Amino acid sequence: MKKLTTAALILAMLAAGAAIAQNAAAPATDPVTSVDVTVDLSRPGAPIARQIYGHFAEHLGRGIYEGVWVGPDSKIPNVRGYRTDVVNALKRLQVPVIRWPGGCFADLYHWRDGIGPRSQRPTRINVHWGGVTDNNSFGTHEFMDFAELVGAEAYVSGNIGSLSPFEMSQWVEYITSAEDATLANERRKNGRDKPWNLKYWGIGNETWGCGGNMRPQMAAAENARYMAFVNAPRAMGMIKVASGASGNLDKWHDYKAFTEEMMKNGGPTFGDHMEALSYHYYAMPPDLAPKGPATDFNEEGWAKQLHYTLDIDRQLKDVIAIMDRHDPKKQTALYVDEWGAWYQPEKGSTPGFLYQQNTLRDAQVAALSFNIFHRYTDRIKMANIAQMINVLQAIILTDKEKMILTPTYHAFDMYRPFMEATPYPASTSAAAYKFGDITLPLIDVSAARGKDGKLYLAIVNTDPKRAVRVRTNLTGKAASGQILASDRMDAHNSFDNPNALVPRPFRGEMVDGRLVVQMPPMGVAVVAVD
Ligand code: AHR
Repeated sequence: MKKLTTAALILAMLAAGAAIAQNAAAPATDPVTSVDVTVDLSRPGAPIARQIYGHFAEHLGRGIYEGVWVGPDSKIPNVRGYRTDVVNALKRLQVPVIRWPGGCFADLYHWRDGIGPRSQRPTRINVHWGGVTDNNSFGTHEFMDFAELVGAEAYVSGNIGSLSPFEMSQWVEYITSAEDATLANERRKNGRDKPWNLKYWGIGNETWGCGGNMRPQMAAAENARYMAFVNAPRAMGMIKVASGASGNLDKWHDYKAFTEEMMKNGGPTFGDHMEALSYHYYAMPPDLAPKGPATDFNEEGWAKQLHYTLDIDRQLKDVIAIMDRHDPKKQTALYVDEWGAWYQPEKGSTPGFLYQQNTLRDAQVAALSFNIFHRYTDRIKMANIAQMINVLQAIILTDKEKMILTPTYHAFDMYRPFMEATPYPASTSAAAYKFGDITLPLIDVSAARGKDGKLYLAIVNTDPKRAVRVRTNLTGKAASGQILASDRMDAHNSFDNPNALVPRPFRGEMVDGRLVVQMPPMGVAVVAVD
Protein backbone atom coordinates (compact mmCIF):
# COMPACT_ATOMS: atom_id res chain seq x y z
CA MET A 1 0.00 0.00 0.00
CA LYS A 2 1.31 3.48 -0.94
CA LYS A 3 2.59 5.46 2.09
CA LEU A 4 0.93 8.90 2.51
CA THR A 5 2.78 12.01 3.77
CA THR A 6 1.13 13.74 6.76
CA ALA A 7 -0.07 16.62 4.54
CA ALA A 8 -1.52 14.21 1.98
CA LEU A 9 -3.19 12.29 4.79
CA ILE A 10 -4.82 15.46 6.18
CA LEU A 11 -5.99 16.44 2.67
CA ALA A 12 -7.41 12.95 2.12
CA MET A 13 -9.23 13.08 5.46
CA LEU A 14 -10.67 16.50 4.68
CA ALA A 15 -11.85 15.25 1.28
CA ALA A 16 -13.43 12.18 2.89
CA GLY A 17 -15.13 14.39 5.48
CA ALA A 18 -16.49 16.64 2.76
CA ALA A 19 -17.77 13.60 0.86
CA ILE A 20 -19.62 12.35 3.95
CA ALA A 21 -21.03 15.78 4.71
CA GLN A 22 -22.27 16.07 1.13
CA ASN A 23 -23.66 12.60 1.04
CA ALA A 24 -27.32 13.47 1.53
CA ALA A 25 -27.04 17.08 0.41
CA ALA A 26 -28.50 17.62 -3.04
CA PRO A 27 -26.00 18.05 -5.86
CA ALA A 28 -25.56 21.63 -7.15
CA THR A 29 -28.74 23.05 -8.64
CA ASP A 30 -29.15 22.91 -12.44
CA PRO A 31 -31.03 25.49 -14.51
CA VAL A 32 -34.83 25.51 -14.46
CA THR A 33 -36.67 23.15 -16.83
CA SER A 34 -40.29 23.49 -17.97
CA VAL A 35 -42.90 20.75 -17.92
CA ASP A 36 -46.48 20.97 -19.20
CA VAL A 37 -49.29 19.36 -17.22
CA THR A 38 -52.67 18.70 -18.81
CA VAL A 39 -55.63 17.80 -16.61
CA ASP A 40 -58.66 16.36 -18.39
CA LEU A 41 -61.63 17.78 -16.48
CA SER A 42 -64.08 16.08 -18.83
CA ARG A 43 -63.25 12.58 -17.51
CA PRO A 44 -63.91 12.33 -13.74
CA GLY A 45 -62.95 9.01 -12.16
CA ALA A 46 -64.52 7.09 -9.26
CA PRO A 47 -64.13 9.03 -5.99
CA ILE A 48 -60.91 8.50 -4.04
CA ALA A 49 -61.88 6.27 -1.08
CA ARG A 50 -60.84 7.98 2.15
CA GLN A 51 -59.54 4.57 3.26
CA ILE A 52 -56.68 5.00 0.76
CA TYR A 53 -55.21 7.14 3.54
CA GLY A 54 -55.38 4.21 5.97
CA HIS A 55 -52.84 2.87 8.47
CA PHE A 56 -51.40 -0.38 9.70
CA ALA A 57 -50.32 -0.90 13.33
CA GLU A 58 -48.78 -4.22 14.34
CA HIS A 59 -47.50 -5.62 17.62
CA LEU A 60 -43.98 -4.99 16.38
CA GLY A 61 -41.20 -3.12 18.16
CA ARG A 62 -42.56 0.10 19.67
CA GLY A 63 -45.49 0.36 17.26
CA ILE A 64 -48.21 -0.40 19.80
CA TYR A 65 -46.44 -0.42 23.16
CA GLU A 66 -45.03 3.08 23.72
CA GLY A 67 -46.21 4.28 20.29
CA VAL A 68 -49.91 4.07 21.06
CA TRP A 69 -50.33 2.44 24.46
CA VAL A 70 -48.51 3.53 27.59
CA GLY A 71 -51.18 2.40 30.05
CA PRO A 72 -53.35 4.58 32.31
CA ASP A 73 -50.68 4.73 35.06
CA SER A 74 -47.92 6.10 32.81
CA LYS A 75 -46.24 9.44 33.49
CA ILE A 76 -46.58 10.11 29.76
CA PRO A 77 -49.79 12.13 29.36
CA ASN A 78 -52.50 9.76 28.18
CA VAL A 79 -56.22 9.31 27.61
CA ARG A 80 -57.21 6.05 29.35
CA GLY A 81 -53.77 4.61 28.49
CA TYR A 82 -53.40 5.98 24.91
CA ARG A 83 -50.76 8.71 24.56
CA THR A 84 -52.45 12.09 24.26
CA ASP A 85 -49.93 13.55 21.79
CA VAL A 86 -50.38 10.61 19.41
CA VAL A 87 -54.18 10.62 19.69
CA ASN A 88 -54.24 14.34 18.84
CA ALA A 89 -51.87 13.93 15.90
CA LEU A 90 -53.99 11.07 14.49
CA LYS A 91 -57.23 12.98 14.95
CA ARG A 92 -55.78 15.89 13.01
CA LEU A 93 -55.07 13.56 10.07
CA GLN A 94 -58.64 12.22 10.17
CA VAL A 95 -57.21 8.70 10.05
CA PRO A 96 -59.93 6.72 8.24
CA VAL A 97 -59.00 3.13 9.12
CA ILE A 98 -56.43 1.21 11.21
CA ARG A 99 -55.44 -2.41 10.56
CA TRP A 100 -54.38 -4.49 13.62
CA PRO A 101 -52.82 -6.68 15.17
CA GLY A 102 -50.53 -7.64 12.24
CA GLY A 103 -48.87 -8.49 9.94
CA CYS A 104 -47.03 -11.68 10.72
CA PHE A 105 -47.92 -11.18 14.41
CA ALA A 106 -51.59 -11.69 13.57
CA ASP A 107 -51.13 -15.26 12.46
CA LEU A 108 -49.98 -16.49 15.85
CA TYR A 109 -52.39 -14.33 17.84
CA HIS A 110 -55.17 -15.75 20.00
CA TRP A 111 -57.81 -13.17 20.81
CA ARG A 112 -58.52 -14.67 24.26
CA ASP A 113 -54.99 -13.61 25.33
CA GLY A 114 -56.08 -9.98 25.05
CA ILE A 115 -59.38 -9.77 26.94
CA GLY A 116 -60.30 -9.64 30.64
CA PRO A 117 -58.41 -7.96 33.49
CA ARG A 118 -55.00 -6.86 32.21
CA SER A 119 -53.21 -8.24 35.25
CA GLN A 120 -54.47 -11.72 34.41
CA ARG A 121 -53.59 -11.79 30.75
CA PRO A 122 -50.85 -14.20 29.64
CA THR A 123 -47.42 -13.06 28.52
CA ARG A 124 -46.41 -14.47 25.14
CA ILE A 125 -43.28 -14.37 23.02
CA ASN A 126 -43.46 -12.27 19.86
CA VAL A 127 -41.60 -14.81 17.75
CA HIS A 128 -41.63 -12.82 14.53
CA TRP A 129 -40.39 -9.54 15.91
CA GLY A 130 -37.34 -9.75 18.12
CA GLY A 131 -38.52 -12.61 20.35
CA VAL A 132 -39.57 -10.10 22.99
CA THR A 133 -42.43 -10.62 25.42
CA ASP A 134 -45.89 -9.16 24.94
CA ASN A 135 -48.00 -8.97 28.10
CA ASN A 136 -51.17 -8.55 26.05
CA SER A 137 -52.14 -5.35 27.87
CA PHE A 138 -53.23 -4.11 24.44
CA GLY A 139 -55.94 -6.46 23.18
CA THR A 140 -59.31 -6.38 21.48
CA HIS A 141 -60.91 -3.87 23.89
CA GLU A 142 -57.91 -1.56 23.75
CA PHE A 143 -57.76 -1.66 19.95
CA MET A 144 -61.46 -1.21 19.31
CA ASP A 145 -61.66 1.64 21.85
CA PHE A 146 -58.57 3.26 20.33
CA ALA A 147 -60.07 3.19 16.83
CA GLU A 148 -63.24 4.75 18.23
CA LEU A 149 -61.25 7.39 20.12
CA VAL A 150 -59.39 8.60 17.02
CA GLY A 151 -62.48 8.27 14.83
CA ALA A 152 -61.08 5.53 12.59
CA GLU A 153 -62.75 2.41 11.26
CA ALA A 154 -61.46 -0.84 12.73
CA TYR A 155 -59.83 -3.46 10.52
CA VAL A 156 -58.90 -6.62 12.43
CA SER A 157 -56.71 -9.25 10.80
CA GLY A 158 -57.80 -12.70 11.90
CA ASN A 159 -55.48 -15.63 12.35
CA ILE A 160 -56.03 -18.41 9.80
CA GLY A 161 -52.54 -19.82 10.29
CA SER A 162 -53.29 -21.37 13.64
CA LEU A 163 -56.82 -20.44 14.78
CA SER A 164 -59.81 -22.56 13.78
CA PRO A 165 -62.75 -21.05 11.87
CA PHE A 166 -64.87 -21.75 14.96
CA GLU A 167 -62.56 -19.73 17.26
CA MET A 168 -62.40 -16.96 14.69
CA SER A 169 -66.19 -16.80 14.41
CA GLN A 170 -66.36 -16.54 18.22
CA TRP A 171 -63.97 -13.57 18.18
CA VAL A 172 -66.17 -11.77 15.66
CA GLU A 173 -69.28 -12.58 17.71
CA TYR A 174 -67.59 -11.28 20.88
CA ILE A 175 -66.90 -7.94 19.17
CA THR A 176 -70.14 -7.49 17.27
CA SER A 177 -73.06 -9.19 19.01
CA ALA A 178 -75.85 -7.18 20.64
CA GLU A 179 -77.66 -10.31 21.84
CA ASP A 180 -78.17 -11.66 25.32
CA ALA A 181 -75.69 -14.41 24.50
CA THR A 182 -72.67 -15.83 26.30
CA LEU A 183 -69.92 -14.11 24.29
CA ALA A 184 -71.64 -10.71 24.21
CA ASN A 185 -72.24 -11.01 27.96
CA GLU A 186 -68.58 -11.84 28.50
CA ARG A 187 -67.70 -8.65 26.62
CA ARG A 188 -70.13 -6.71 28.82
CA LYS A 189 -68.52 -8.19 31.93
CA ASN A 190 -65.16 -7.02 30.54
CA GLY A 191 -66.40 -3.45 30.36
CA ARG A 192 -68.02 -2.92 26.96
CA ASP A 193 -71.79 -2.92 26.79
CA LYS A 194 -72.56 -2.01 23.18
CA PRO A 195 -71.05 -4.02 20.33
CA TRP A 196 -68.28 -2.24 18.46
CA ASN A 197 -68.66 -1.39 14.84
CA LEU A 198 -66.33 -3.81 13.08
CA LYS A 199 -65.98 -2.64 9.51
CA TYR A 200 -63.28 -4.93 8.07
CA TRP A 201 -62.14 -8.46 8.85
CA GLY A 202 -58.90 -9.85 7.41
CA ILE A 203 -58.98 -13.55 6.56
CA GLY A 204 -55.32 -14.10 7.48
CA ASN A 205 -52.20 -12.20 6.53
CA GLU A 206 -49.66 -13.14 3.87
CA THR A 207 -50.96 -16.70 3.56
CA TRP A 208 -48.17 -17.32 1.01
CA GLY A 209 -45.54 -16.60 3.72
CA CYS A 210 -45.63 -16.07 7.49
CA GLY A 211 -49.38 -16.81 7.41
CA GLY A 212 -48.89 -20.48 6.57
CA ASN A 213 -46.55 -20.88 3.56
CA MET A 214 -49.55 -21.84 1.43
CA ARG A 215 -49.50 -22.54 -2.28
CA PRO A 216 -52.03 -20.38 -4.19
CA GLN A 217 -54.58 -23.22 -4.46
CA MET A 218 -54.46 -23.89 -0.74
CA ALA A 219 -54.64 -20.18 0.14
CA ALA A 220 -57.75 -19.79 -2.02
CA ALA A 221 -59.39 -22.87 -0.50
CA GLU A 222 -58.63 -21.76 3.07
CA ASN A 223 -59.97 -18.31 2.34
CA ALA A 224 -63.24 -19.76 1.05
CA ARG A 225 -63.54 -22.00 4.13
CA TYR A 226 -63.00 -19.21 6.67
CA MET A 227 -65.24 -16.82 4.74
CA ALA A 228 -68.10 -19.28 5.18
CA PHE A 229 -67.90 -19.30 8.97
CA VAL A 230 -66.90 -15.78 9.98
CA ASN A 231 -69.88 -13.44 10.02
CA ALA A 232 -70.92 -10.28 11.83
CA PRO A 233 -74.59 -9.23 12.08
CA ARG A 234 -75.62 -8.42 8.51
CA ALA A 235 -76.59 -4.83 9.34
CA MET A 236 -72.96 -4.08 10.29
CA GLY A 237 -71.90 -4.63 6.67
CA MET A 238 -68.53 -6.08 7.70
CA ILE A 239 -66.23 -6.57 4.73
CA LYS A 240 -64.10 -9.72 4.68
CA VAL A 241 -60.67 -9.19 3.17
CA ALA A 242 -58.93 -12.13 1.52
CA SER A 243 -55.16 -12.25 1.93
CA GLY A 244 -53.59 -11.62 -1.47
CA ALA A 245 -50.19 -11.49 -3.11
CA SER A 246 -46.97 -9.56 -2.55
CA GLY A 247 -44.85 -7.83 -5.17
CA ASN A 248 -41.54 -8.16 -3.34
CA LEU A 249 -40.49 -11.75 -3.86
CA ASP A 250 -40.38 -12.51 -7.56
CA LYS A 251 -37.97 -15.43 -7.11
CA TRP A 252 -40.28 -17.33 -4.76
CA HIS A 253 -43.74 -15.97 -5.19
CA ASP A 254 -45.56 -15.18 -8.43
CA TYR A 255 -47.98 -12.37 -7.60
CA LYS A 256 -49.86 -12.83 -10.84
CA ALA A 257 -50.42 -16.57 -10.38
CA PHE A 258 -51.46 -16.00 -6.76
CA THR A 259 -53.96 -13.27 -7.69
CA GLU A 260 -55.30 -15.43 -10.50
CA GLU A 261 -55.99 -18.34 -8.16
CA MET A 262 -57.57 -16.16 -5.46
CA MET A 263 -59.90 -14.57 -8.01
CA LYS A 264 -60.73 -17.87 -9.70
CA ASN A 265 -61.78 -19.45 -6.42
CA GLY A 266 -63.24 -16.51 -4.58
CA GLY A 267 -64.27 -13.89 -7.10
CA PRO A 268 -67.85 -12.92 -7.80
CA THR A 269 -68.65 -16.11 -9.70
CA PHE A 270 -67.96 -18.15 -6.59
CA GLY A 271 -70.91 -18.46 -4.14
CA ASP A 272 -70.05 -16.24 -1.18
CA HIS A 273 -68.04 -13.76 -3.20
CA MET A 274 -64.88 -12.07 -2.01
CA GLU A 275 -65.52 -8.41 -1.26
CA ALA A 276 -61.89 -7.41 -1.04
CA LEU A 277 -58.50 -8.87 -1.89
CA SER A 278 -55.30 -7.49 -0.38
CA TYR A 279 -51.94 -6.73 -1.94
CA HIS A 280 -48.64 -5.94 -0.21
CA TYR A 281 -45.67 -4.07 -1.58
CA TYR A 282 -42.69 -2.49 0.13
CA ALA A 283 -40.45 -0.01 -1.68
CA MET A 284 -37.12 -1.79 -1.22
CA PRO A 285 -34.63 -3.83 -3.26
CA PRO A 286 -36.27 -6.92 -4.81
CA ASP A 287 -36.00 -10.47 -3.51
CA LEU A 288 -34.60 -9.62 -0.07
CA ALA A 289 -31.41 -8.00 -1.44
CA PRO A 290 -29.66 -5.81 1.17
CA LYS A 291 -31.53 -2.62 2.00
CA GLY A 292 -30.06 0.88 2.07
CA PRO A 293 -29.95 3.32 4.97
CA ALA A 294 -32.88 5.60 5.86
CA THR A 295 -30.63 8.68 6.14
CA ASP A 296 -27.20 9.70 4.89
CA PHE A 297 -27.71 8.18 1.43
CA ASN A 298 -26.35 9.49 -1.86
CA GLU A 299 -28.14 10.33 -5.10
CA GLU A 300 -28.09 6.69 -6.13
CA GLY A 301 -30.04 5.89 -2.94
CA TRP A 302 -32.51 8.64 -3.77
CA ALA A 303 -33.11 7.52 -7.36
CA LYS A 304 -33.31 3.81 -6.54
CA GLN A 305 -35.82 4.36 -3.75
CA LEU A 306 -38.14 6.36 -6.01
CA HIS A 307 -37.72 3.71 -8.69
CA TYR A 308 -38.77 0.97 -6.21
CA THR A 309 -41.73 3.12 -5.21
CA LEU A 310 -42.99 3.62 -8.75
CA ASP A 311 -42.66 -0.08 -9.52
CA ILE A 312 -45.95 -0.70 -7.71
CA ASP A 313 -47.69 0.93 -10.68
CA ARG A 314 -46.60 -1.89 -12.99
CA GLN A 315 -47.68 -4.51 -10.44
CA LEU A 316 -51.06 -2.89 -9.83
CA LYS A 317 -51.73 -2.82 -13.58
CA ASP A 318 -51.06 -6.58 -13.68
CA VAL A 319 -53.16 -7.35 -10.59
CA ILE A 320 -56.05 -5.17 -11.73
CA ALA A 321 -56.02 -6.73 -15.23
CA ILE A 322 -56.41 -10.18 -13.64
CA MET A 323 -59.17 -8.94 -11.35
CA ASP A 324 -60.94 -7.26 -14.27
CA ARG A 325 -60.94 -10.51 -16.21
CA HIS A 326 -62.60 -12.44 -13.38
CA ASP A 327 -64.69 -9.56 -12.10
CA PRO A 328 -65.59 -7.11 -14.87
CA LYS A 329 -68.25 -5.48 -12.67
CA LYS A 330 -65.57 -4.65 -10.10
CA GLN A 331 -67.34 -6.20 -7.14
CA THR A 332 -64.10 -7.23 -5.43
CA ALA A 333 -62.09 -4.27 -4.17
CA LEU A 334 -58.31 -4.23 -4.06
CA TYR A 335 -56.82 -3.20 -0.69
CA VAL A 336 -53.10 -2.37 -0.69
CA ASP A 337 -53.13 -3.00 3.02
CA GLU A 338 -49.35 -2.87 3.51
CA TRP A 339 -47.17 -0.41 1.61
CA GLY A 340 -44.20 1.82 2.39
CA ALA A 341 -40.42 2.19 2.37
CA TRP A 342 -38.34 -0.45 4.12
CA TYR A 343 -34.70 0.41 4.98
CA GLN A 344 -31.96 -0.89 7.24
CA PRO A 345 -32.98 -0.41 10.87
CA GLU A 346 -31.58 2.64 12.64
CA LYS A 347 -28.11 2.04 14.14
CA GLY A 348 -28.39 1.15 17.81
CA SER A 349 -32.10 0.24 17.62
CA THR A 350 -33.32 -3.13 18.90
CA PRO A 351 -32.92 -5.90 16.30
CA GLY A 352 -36.28 -7.01 14.93
CA PHE A 353 -38.03 -3.73 15.80
CA LEU A 354 -37.80 -2.26 12.25
CA TYR A 355 -37.28 1.27 13.53
CA GLN A 356 -36.12 3.69 10.82
CA GLN A 357 -35.85 7.47 10.35
CA ASN A 358 -38.04 9.20 7.82
CA THR A 359 -36.87 11.89 5.41
CA LEU A 360 -37.96 14.11 2.55
CA ARG A 361 -37.37 11.05 0.35
CA ASP A 362 -40.15 9.28 2.27
CA ALA A 363 -42.51 12.20 1.72
CA GLN A 364 -41.82 11.61 -1.98
CA VAL A 365 -42.47 7.87 -1.55
CA ALA A 366 -45.82 8.71 0.07
CA ALA A 367 -46.84 11.35 -2.47
CA LEU A 368 -45.90 9.21 -5.49
CA SER A 369 -47.82 6.28 -3.96
CA PHE A 370 -50.92 8.42 -3.33
CA ASN A 371 -50.78 9.69 -6.91
CA ILE A 372 -50.68 6.10 -8.16
CA PHE A 373 -53.57 4.98 -5.93
CA HIS A 374 -55.64 7.92 -7.24
CA ARG A 375 -55.30 6.48 -10.76
CA TYR A 376 -57.08 3.20 -9.97
CA THR A 377 -59.96 4.37 -7.81
CA ASP A 378 -62.49 2.09 -9.49
CA ARG A 379 -60.61 -0.87 -8.01
CA ILE A 380 -58.39 0.33 -5.14
CA LYS A 381 -60.59 1.15 -2.17
CA MET A 382 -58.07 1.01 0.67
CA ALA A 383 -54.34 1.38 1.30
CA ASN A 384 -52.58 1.13 4.67
CA ILE A 385 -49.15 2.55 5.27
CA ALA A 386 -46.72 0.26 7.07
CA GLN A 387 -46.62 1.26 9.71
CA MET A 388 -48.30 3.99 11.72
CA ILE A 389 -45.82 4.63 14.57
CA ASN A 390 -42.13 3.78 15.21
CA VAL A 391 -42.04 0.99 12.60
CA LEU A 392 -40.87 1.19 8.95
CA GLN A 393 -42.28 4.25 7.11
CA ALA A 394 -43.89 5.70 10.22
CA ILE A 395 -45.87 8.91 10.30
CA ILE A 396 -44.96 9.39 13.97
CA LEU A 397 -41.82 8.58 15.95
CA THR A 398 -41.67 8.55 19.74
CA ASP A 399 -38.88 8.46 22.26
CA LYS A 400 -40.39 7.94 25.71
CA GLU A 401 -42.34 11.16 26.38
CA LYS A 402 -41.19 12.86 23.14
CA MET A 403 -43.01 12.64 19.83
CA ILE A 404 -42.16 13.91 16.35
CA LEU A 405 -44.18 14.08 13.16
CA THR A 406 -42.26 12.75 10.17
CA PRO A 407 -42.20 14.10 6.60
CA THR A 408 -44.55 11.21 5.76
CA TYR A 409 -47.03 12.57 8.31
CA HIS A 410 -46.83 15.95 6.60
CA ALA A 411 -47.45 14.35 3.19
CA PHE A 412 -50.59 12.67 4.60
CA ASP A 413 -51.66 16.00 6.07
CA MET A 414 -51.13 17.92 2.83
CA TYR A 415 -53.05 15.31 0.84
CA ARG A 416 -56.10 15.35 3.14
CA PRO A 417 -58.25 17.22 0.59
CA PHE A 418 -57.93 14.21 -1.71
CA MET A 419 -60.02 12.04 0.61
CA GLU A 420 -63.32 11.43 -1.18
CA ALA A 421 -62.30 13.82 -3.95
CA THR A 422 -63.12 13.11 -7.59
CA PRO A 423 -59.92 12.47 -9.56
CA TYR A 424 -59.19 13.53 -13.13
CA PRO A 425 -56.65 12.02 -15.51
CA ALA A 426 -53.55 14.18 -15.82
CA SER A 427 -50.61 13.88 -18.17
CA THR A 428 -47.21 15.56 -18.26
CA SER A 429 -44.93 16.41 -21.17
CA ALA A 430 -42.17 13.83 -21.51
CA ALA A 431 -39.47 15.15 -19.20
CA ALA A 432 -37.40 12.71 -17.17
CA TYR A 433 -35.10 12.65 -14.18
CA LYS A 434 -32.26 10.27 -14.97
CA PHE A 435 -29.63 8.77 -12.76
CA GLY A 436 -27.42 6.00 -14.18
CA ASP A 437 -29.77 3.50 -15.79
CA ILE A 438 -32.79 4.75 -13.80
CA THR A 439 -35.29 6.99 -15.59
CA LEU A 440 -38.18 8.51 -13.66
CA PRO A 441 -40.86 11.04 -14.57
CA LEU A 442 -39.43 14.43 -13.64
CA ILE A 443 -42.82 15.71 -12.52
CA ASP A 444 -45.59 13.50 -11.18
CA VAL A 445 -49.05 14.96 -10.53
CA SER A 446 -52.53 14.15 -9.31
CA ALA A 447 -55.59 16.34 -9.78
CA ALA A 448 -59.00 16.03 -8.12
CA ARG A 449 -62.09 18.04 -7.19
CA GLY A 450 -62.34 18.04 -3.40
CA LYS A 451 -65.54 17.64 -1.40
CA ASP A 452 -65.34 21.39 -0.79
CA GLY A 453 -65.73 21.97 -4.54
CA LYS A 454 -62.14 23.18 -5.04
CA LEU A 455 -59.77 21.76 -7.59
CA TYR A 456 -56.59 20.35 -6.01
CA LEU A 457 -53.30 19.65 -7.72
CA ALA A 458 -50.52 17.60 -6.10
CA ILE A 459 -47.09 17.98 -7.69
CA VAL A 460 -43.88 16.04 -7.05
CA ASN A 461 -40.50 17.07 -8.47
CA THR A 462 -38.38 13.91 -8.35
CA ASP A 463 -35.12 15.60 -9.39
CA PRO A 464 -32.68 16.46 -6.59
CA LYS A 465 -30.97 19.09 -8.78
CA ARG A 466 -33.45 20.77 -11.07
CA ALA A 467 -36.09 23.33 -10.26
CA VAL A 468 -39.03 22.90 -12.63
CA ARG A 469 -41.50 25.41 -13.99
CA VAL A 470 -44.78 23.48 -14.19
CA ARG A 471 -47.23 24.99 -16.70
CA THR A 472 -50.75 23.66 -16.45
CA ASN A 473 -53.95 24.00 -18.46
CA LEU A 474 -55.86 24.85 -15.24
CA THR A 475 -57.65 28.17 -15.26
CA GLY A 476 -58.62 30.31 -12.29
CA LYS A 477 -57.75 33.40 -10.28
CA ALA A 478 -55.20 32.10 -7.78
CA ALA A 479 -53.66 28.94 -6.35
CA SER A 480 -52.34 28.38 -2.89
CA GLY A 481 -51.39 25.52 -0.63
CA GLN A 482 -48.31 24.01 0.97
CA ILE A 483 -44.93 22.63 -0.02
CA LEU A 484 -42.47 20.29 1.64
CA ALA A 485 -38.95 20.92 0.34
CA SER A 486 -35.34 21.18 1.42
CA ASP A 487 -31.89 21.34 -0.11
CA ARG A 488 -31.02 18.06 1.62
CA MET A 489 -32.22 14.74 0.26
CA ASP A 490 -32.35 13.31 3.77
CA ALA A 491 -33.87 16.31 5.55
CA HIS A 492 -35.75 14.94 8.54
CA ASN A 493 -37.11 15.79 11.95
CA SER A 494 -35.38 14.65 15.10
CA PHE A 495 -36.26 14.73 18.79
CA ASP A 496 -33.85 17.68 19.15
CA ASN A 497 -35.13 19.45 16.07
CA PRO A 498 -38.76 18.34 15.55
CA ASN A 499 -39.60 21.06 13.00
CA ALA A 500 -36.58 20.83 10.72
CA LEU A 501 -38.85 19.83 7.83
CA VAL A 502 -42.43 21.06 7.90
CA PRO A 503 -44.77 22.23 5.14
CA ARG A 504 -44.51 25.89 4.18
CA PRO A 505 -47.14 28.09 2.51
CA PHE A 506 -46.84 27.89 -1.25
CA ARG A 507 -48.46 29.71 -4.15
CA GLY A 508 -48.80 29.12 -7.84
CA GLU A 509 -49.14 32.09 -10.17
CA MET A 510 -51.72 32.66 -12.85
CA VAL A 511 -50.01 33.44 -16.15
CA ASP A 512 -52.46 34.40 -18.90
CA GLY A 513 -55.16 32.78 -16.76
CA ARG A 514 -53.33 29.42 -16.49
CA LEU A 515 -51.76 28.02 -13.34
CA VAL A 516 -47.95 27.96 -13.32
CA VAL A 517 -46.05 26.49 -10.38
CA GLN A 518 -42.31 26.83 -9.70
CA MET A 519 -41.27 23.55 -8.12
CA PRO A 520 -37.92 23.49 -6.30
CA PRO A 521 -35.80 20.34 -6.54
CA MET A 522 -37.32 17.47 -4.50
CA GLY A 523 -40.44 19.47 -3.67
CA VAL A 524 -43.82 17.93 -2.83
CA ALA A 525 -46.67 20.43 -3.12
CA VAL A 526 -50.46 20.48 -2.94
CA VAL A 527 -52.31 23.58 -4.12
CA ALA A 528 -55.97 24.49 -4.41
CA VAL A 529 -56.98 26.42 -7.51
CA ASP A 530 -59.49 29.24 -6.90
O1 AHR B 1 -44.77 -4.77 8.18
C1 AHR B 1 -43.85 -5.74 8.54
C2 AHR B 1 -44.21 -7.12 7.99
O2 AHR B 1 -44.17 -7.10 6.60
C3 AHR B 1 -45.61 -7.60 8.28
O3 AHR B 1 -45.72 -8.17 9.54
C4 AHR B 1 -45.85 -8.61 7.22
O4 AHR B 1 -47.20 -8.75 6.87
C5 AHR B 1 -45.01 -8.11 6.05
O5 AHR B 1 -44.23 -9.09 5.50
